[in-house]
Amino acid sequence: MSSRLLTLHTFASVKGGVGKSTLAIACAKLLAAPRDAGRHPVLIDCDQTGTSLADGLRLLPPVLARSPDGAPVLEAPPTGEHHRPSPDEPERPAWRAAFSGRGRARQPFDPPFLNDVMHQSVDSEGTLRVDAMLWRHEQDDGVRYLPSSPLDTDLADALRWIEGEHDGWGEWAQRLAWGIDRLIRHDSAVTDVILDLPPGVWGIGHEVHALANTLAHGHSLPAGYPEGWNTDELRWRVNPFLVTSPDRQALLSALDYLGFCLRPVPGFRGLRPLVNRTTEAPEHIRRRARLLSGDLRAQLGLDELLVLVSEMETTLGRVFLDGDLGVDEKVLELRGVLRLVP
Ligand SMILES: Nc1ncnc2c1ncn2[C@@H]1O[C@H](COP(=O)(O)OP(=O)(O)O)[C@@H](O)[C@H]1O
Ligand SMILES: [Mg+2]
Repeated sequence: MSSRLLTLHTFASVKGGVGKSTLAIACAKLLAAPRDAGRHPVLIDCDQTGTSLADGLRLLPPVLARSPDGAPVLEAPPTGEHHRPSPDEPERPAWRAAFSGRGRARQPFDPPFLNDVMHQSVDSEGTLRVDAMLWRHEQDDGVRYLPSSPLDTDLADALRWIEGEHDGWGEWAQRLAWGIDRLIRHDSAVTDVILDLPPGVWGIGHEVHALANTLAHGHSLPAGYPEGWNTDELRWRVNPFLVTSPDRQALLSALDYLGFCLRPVPGFRGLRPLVNRTTEAPEHIRRRARLLSGDLRAQLGLDELLVLVSEMETTLGRVFLDGDLGVDEKVLELRGVLRLVP
């Protein structure tokens, strides 16, 4: 019997604004681009602090099935349809305008966000149809998206997760894992799950790295996580990145975190530091990283791990200006950098 192989790509950072979302989008689009390659990526926007991919990209929410009284039903299979903006609609997406009043309760799950998945308690019955909650891009790019909610009615609630207690195996990653499990069980086409993580590595980011590390080593997940991950039927490969800008304080804090990862979780070498938006010669940046990492360098295997992505003003630099990412030769080269080719 052939085993199903899934890949978990993750983009974390110590600082905000270093390019996690941009690189996660590039990763998803590059995987989906040769349609005949058979990769079906789902990009999950895990930053629940208000900057949603649903605002940054021109995404269309799915049309959900409804009960006779008109309420959206999250346990129903996908309708296959997405809401299309009408030609005379203003720039502000219709779904956002409909829910913009402070404190106004939105109909839950309409439009659906990651927040709605995280709200469900651990769903071991598998009733939640995360596959029906996925958005797509206006230019159908083959990627399916699950944005976080930017609506003020959801923000206060989301802060609960951010302020929670996190010790490496927290409730957030556990709930996310159940959401992913629901998705892949109902949709056998999914091959890649890409996580665009919130800034900061000491909470949610670290929980996800601990999860990735466990999967990478083929260890079984702790109790309370979905069963059957890393069995003969289902295998996970992981591709985690720690994104940083080239400047000293960002690089140093990223290297500190990498060093920290070596201590409590021996063998956690899979997390790749990615220096984004470089404008200097690669050798200068590598040298800076070597000097800043000091004694850690050999332990981290930094020379092999460190990957560089240059400043790309007209493509990566325009993603949230145009609401889409243009793919040129330089962006295509990211296939190798982001380890998307076998
Ligand atoms: N390699 C790059 N070249 C040029 N601009 C970039 C590059 N990577 C990211 N950007 C730009 O940097 C800004 C912040 O990126 P973003 O992905 O939102 O960061 P984060 O998700 O880490 O907060 C965006 O305007 C994006 O277009
Ligand atoms: Mg972001």
